[in-house]
Amino acid sequence: MASAGPVGGFEGRLWNVAGAVATFTARDLELATVTTAVSDNTGVPVVLHGVPGVGKTQLALAWVYGYAESAQVVWQIRAANRLEVVADLAQLADRLGMAVGGDLEQAARAAMQELNGRDDWLLLFDDATPDSVAGLVPVRGGRVLMTSRNPNWALTGVPSEVGLFAPHVAAVFLDPSAGEAAGLLASELGYLPLALEQARAYCAAPAGRLVVYLADFRRQRLLGQGIDHTLHAPVTVTLALALDEVRRREPGAAQLMMVLAQFAPAAIPWDLVAVGAMVQPVPLDDAAIDGVYADQLIGVLRELALVTADRSGLLRVHQLVAEVLREHPLPVPDNYSLWQSPLRVIGAGPPPRSWIQEGAELLAEALPADVKNPVHWDRWALLLPHAETVIERGASPSTTIGTLQYLCGAYLLRRGEYSSARRCSTRSVEGRGRLLGEEHPDTLTSMSNLAAIERRMDDSGGQESR
Ligand SMILES: Nc1ncnc2c1ncn2[C@@H]1O[C@H](COP(=O)(O)OP(=O)(O)OP(=O)(O)O)[C@@H](O)[C@H]1O
Ligand SMILES: [Mg+2]
Repeated sequence: MASAGPVGGFEGRLWNVAGAVATFTARDLELATVTTAVSDNTGVPVVLHGVPGVGKTQLALAWVYGYAESAQVVWQIRAANRLEVVADLAQLADRLGMAVGGDLEQAARAAMQELNGRDDWLLLFDDATPDSVAGLVPVRGGRVLMTSRNPNWALTGVPSEVGLFAPHVAAVFLDPSAGEAAGLLASELGYLPLALEQARAYCAAPAGRLVVYLADFRRQRLLGQGIDHTLHAPVTVTLALALDEVRRREPGAAQLMMVLAQFAPAAIPWDLVAVGAMVQPVPLDDAAIDGVYADQLIGVLRELALVTADRSGLLRVHQLVAEVLREHPLPVPDNYSLWQSPLRVIGAGPPPRSWIQEGAELLAEALPADVKNPVHWDRWALLLPHAETVIERGASPSTTIGTLQYLCGAYLLRRGEYSSARRCSTRSVEGRGRLLGEEHPDTLTSMSNLAAIERRMDDSGGQESR
């Protein structure tokens, strides 16, 4: 439904909202509830809250596409933390054509001010917390929809809980003929849409059969008992099964999945995977090294609903999928025969190489080194959140992480985001100094970049340039 485009088309609108999944279903009642809540609450956030993977974001996206009739500015804001909110509001200020001379915070405030003066906008804050959006929500004129895992919004918004699928909806979603096995499996999956989607995709794949899947699911869950009692336990099991199937079909795809799980929950360009096919030392480089191979890997992951892809070639990994994979990683293999199921290897000790390191190497290869040329800035904008995430998650310093920190610092300097540039660059100097030595050419390059940032900060009296 949603992928057809918004009501009234895109024409003339400022529109930055992803489409809902093609399999979007049910939720008629919830969509109507959102309509009433949003129209009754101008400028007050309506907050869709519920457990991870229940379908908050999908419901919000479907609602925006189906019901945002008159809004001229329709913008999705990543809201997991304050930095994301500020960055996305600043980008909106830019798109609103506002000449913003101050730092990102000032740009964000300028966007809010502009919106407060008009009534034709709709903002979707995705994955918000009361802290991440505090003071960053326009209060007059337009509409605000949020999604959140946090239920505590009574003071700042209108909370609306998103529940699990009803049992019969879940069974039909798994299998339209909804035999007994579909009902049983839906119940075992806790009626959680994300887990249902994994099972649906698996059973729809060639040779996947629902009855066999149900038996496999029960066996796998028994194996995992005592290991994971968390809320998303059904997803842990559906993922283990999906990953086993991926490995059976194409081991390189399972590795790729582990690498993708290290990145930010943001769009990942397809060609990053093509680059990956070229730089992965083990074992992707012994396979066909080209885009066809990358397509093959992504095709397997898409078939099993581990990633989604849109028409422009942007890939997405659901954040809960990524979280579970990071909690239960596959070992980084020396060769294929060492591979085991993620549930079975828990507690087997740290892997010899880390997936985060693999992700860092991939990004270091893919980030355009020529940061001065604005031609590369769109690509940088896509890859920066992933580089920042990998830098944050990379527990142990490495020369590759040092390279990422250096490149991000150099790019952020060009964009005039001096405090972020200084943070990256300082860490690069420290990391490279420790690992390579103070006199190493790479350390000296990082030092000179840091000096340039500090000079620019002095010249601008602490002001960011954008
Ligand atoms: N109404 C729906 N119809 C079909 N599939 C759905 C629906 N809602 C959710 N799903 C499936 O469940 C997955 C998770 O949904 P979604 O991303 O909306 O969860 P969420 O509640 O926002 O999770 P999180 O708290 O982790 O952000 C989707 O990628 C989709 O595959
Ligand atoms: Mg979400």
